[in-house]
Amino acid sequence: MSVIKVAILGFGTVGQGVYKTIQSHGEELTAVLGKKVEVAAVLIKNNQKEREISEEVLVTTNFGEILDLPQLDIVVEAIVDKEPTFTFLKKAIKHGCHIITANKEMFAHHGKELIELADENHVSIGFEATVAGGIPVIQTLRELLKINRVDQVQGILNGTSNFILTEMRVKKQSFAQSLLQAQLNGYAEADPTNDVEGYDAFYKTMILSRISFGEEPNWHAVEREGITSITSELIAAAEKFGLRFKHVASLTKAGNQIKASVKPVLVGQEHPFYHVEGVENAVNVHSDIVGRITLQGPGAGMFPTASAVIEDLVYVCQSHPAKRSYTGTPGGNIGQKNEDKKEYWLVQGLTKKYAAPSITWIDQAANEIFIIQTTRKEVDQLAIQQGGLVYYPILGEYETLLKDTALTALL
Ligand SMILES: NC(=O)c1ccc[n+]([C@@H]2O[C@H](COP(=O)([O-])OP(=O)(O)OC[C@H]3O[C@@H](n4cnc5c(N)ncnc54)[C@H](OP(=O)(O)O)[C@@H]3O)[C@@H](O)[C@H]2O)c1
Repeated sequence: MSVIKVAILGFGTVGQGVYKTIQSHGEELTAVLGKKVEVAAVLIKNNQKEREISEEVLVTTNFGEILDLPQLDIVVEAIVDKEPTFTFLKKAIKHGCHIITANKEMFAHHGKELIELADENHVSIGFEATVAGGIPVIQTLRELLKINRVDQVQGILNGTSNFILTEMRVKKQSFAQSLLQAQLNGYAEADPTNDVEGYDAFYKTMILSRISFGEEPNWHAVEREGITSITSELIAAAEKFGLRFKHVASLTKAGNQIKASVKPVLVGQEHPFYHVEGVENAVNVHSDIVGRITLQGPGAGMFPTASAVIEDLVYVCQSHPAKRSYTGTPGGNIGQKNEDKKEYWLVQGLTKKYAAPSITWIDQAANEIFIIQTTRKEVDQLAIQQGGLVYYPILGEYETLLKDTALTALL
């Protein structure tokens, strides 16, 4: 029986998960592919660490030795940082290998170039693990986009932020206490900036934009805000209104415009993200034929991420041209804010003396924490007039929530 030879770059959480899954699911892979899948090599950085790797596998710190193997079909990349990863993957593609990556930061920056290079070299790229870990969101979008037109994608894409927000609400803890808990559980790095300031979710959003719409918004024009401004007081006030804070990435296409943001928002019980708790991720896609669908599941972890990589392994072996990895239709001018539409906001730090006639006061949860209805433009202006104002949009049909409560009387 012929064999598919795989090299794994990086042997941390994801690399080990992929190695173990290839061993544990060899029969299933052979049944689907008609070939045996073998790990031929593993690239490591620190050769002092103990590793549980079969003696038949080449374990090396030198990527050149991997490319010198007599047969190499697929390179799975599970390293951190943009470099030397990008360089390794370019070499692998030019060598004629299919590549699979879990590295969202590298892929958000260099995905377009890698796709073009892969296309020139007639190989495929899998990147399912770069967004929402084990949730098959890329594959679902690829399938949907064959006929459906997707116009909105929203997601809870960072499990660490979602865990912290859940802990703050359920245990009535501060941000610092909840972050510490995330670190103790191994969900957050010693330096949590990428997660809590929204960079990790931002990279994933740009990858989703490219697959959904064939292009990305201008990175500098995308609103990116993390969860560090959210206090226990705000969370308690939101709860009084039946609302929960979620860190949500949002992409909306209207005509030729893509609006993108990555920021904390509020959702009511009717919203599919309301019950997404802890380290779970969720992605909600709206398209013209099927309507709205939500995928929810583990956004990280050894085996959920390995599952995404192994699904990609089957995908690339079935020889899909790289360019079809990005199937969305490119649009034109990229806009960011719909400033004139009236939305609901939870605001803190606003006093009624600053009120403009265009503001509708809906309710008050605590001293200087209100729900108001106004435009984005108005609330931005208020923030300039009144230093220290914080404001978060409420997603979904907030009117529905109001109808179910005595708050209707206040409208
Ligand atoms: N963990 C998750 O749940 C998850 C989910 C989705 C995506 N990802 C992405 O997957 C990638 C890997 O994540 P991880 O959690 O597995 O990280 P990790 O546990 O920190 O492991 C990273 C591995 O990369 C290796 N490495 C670093 N630089 C290298 C180099 N120059 N050459 C060879 N090996 C090198 C390290 O090798 P040594 O062991 O020799 O030090 C380490 O084993 C990241 O890009 C991450 O964003 C992770």
